Amino acid sequence: MIIFAVAAIGYVVYKLPPYLTLDPANSRIPPEHALHFAFLSGHVISGSVALLTAVLQFLPWLRRKYPAVHRISGRLYIFVGALPAAVLALAMYPVTPGPGRVAVLFAASLWSIAAIFGWMAARQRRYAAHRRWMVYSFAIMWGYGVWVFVIANLLVEIGVDIPTAVESARWGGWTGNLLIAHWWLERTAGRTIVGVARRSPKAKVAPGAESPALAVGSAPANTGG
Ligand code: HEM
Repeated sequence: MIIFAVAAIGYVVYKLPPYLTLDPANSRIPPEHALHFAFLSGHVISGSVALLTAVLQFLPWLRRKYPAVHRISGRLYIFVGALPAAVLALAMYPVTPGPGRVAVLFAASLWSIAAIFGWMAARQRRYAAHRRWMVYSFAIMWGYGVWVFVIANLLVEIGVDIPTAVESARWGGWTGNLLIAHWWLERTAGRTIVGVARRSPKAKVAPGAESPALAVGSAPANTGG
């Protein structure tokens, strides 16, 4: 978890500042039209909110001691982070250059759909489903939002031509992450969950089942960890 936190903070510190200046001249991607820089800045700012709030969701001690923080940062993740960032990524689609750009449509849509399904599941107190959808949402976000840059640069470094590297990164980052997330969810399906309910100190979630302990009170959501 520390690794994710450090990587998320490092990524945001490195990528965000040019987009806070409101000056298109500072954009790393040359704007194609008047609104492009506004879309891009909004996307990077809301993407940063999503990345940072997601880190908080995976801290078991935070869920246990401060369930309200988990709920508030979860809502920030969805409504200030993932949804606006995905909508703005879709708005940039007409001017997104290069091979593999169709991946933007799939990744942005599935990222936000998974977040909304996760939120709805939490509202309905279906916490095992909530955990599953939110992990998928986080996996897509990391896969497209972060690994896409890392993978593309690595491939170019080892001699892969740029179009192939970009297309591989745009598809491979988030689809690969989804597979890893699914494997991890299956592997931890029977794990004892910490901090899932105020009145139930520990709950066991059977594979594929909802947690009965969570049907009681306004419990913080279970997002794994
Ligand atoms: C499924 C999730 C995401 C999708 C589909 C997506 C899509 C896009 C698109 C289409 C662009 C325009 C640049 C291009 O032509 O490729 C872009 C740029 C950018 N995105 Fe995302 N994004 C996602 C998540 C995130 C997240 C979570 C962050 C976190 C901060 C982020 C940070 C950025 C940054 C910093 C840029 C500008 C690139 C640069 O300055 O080097 N994105 N993204």
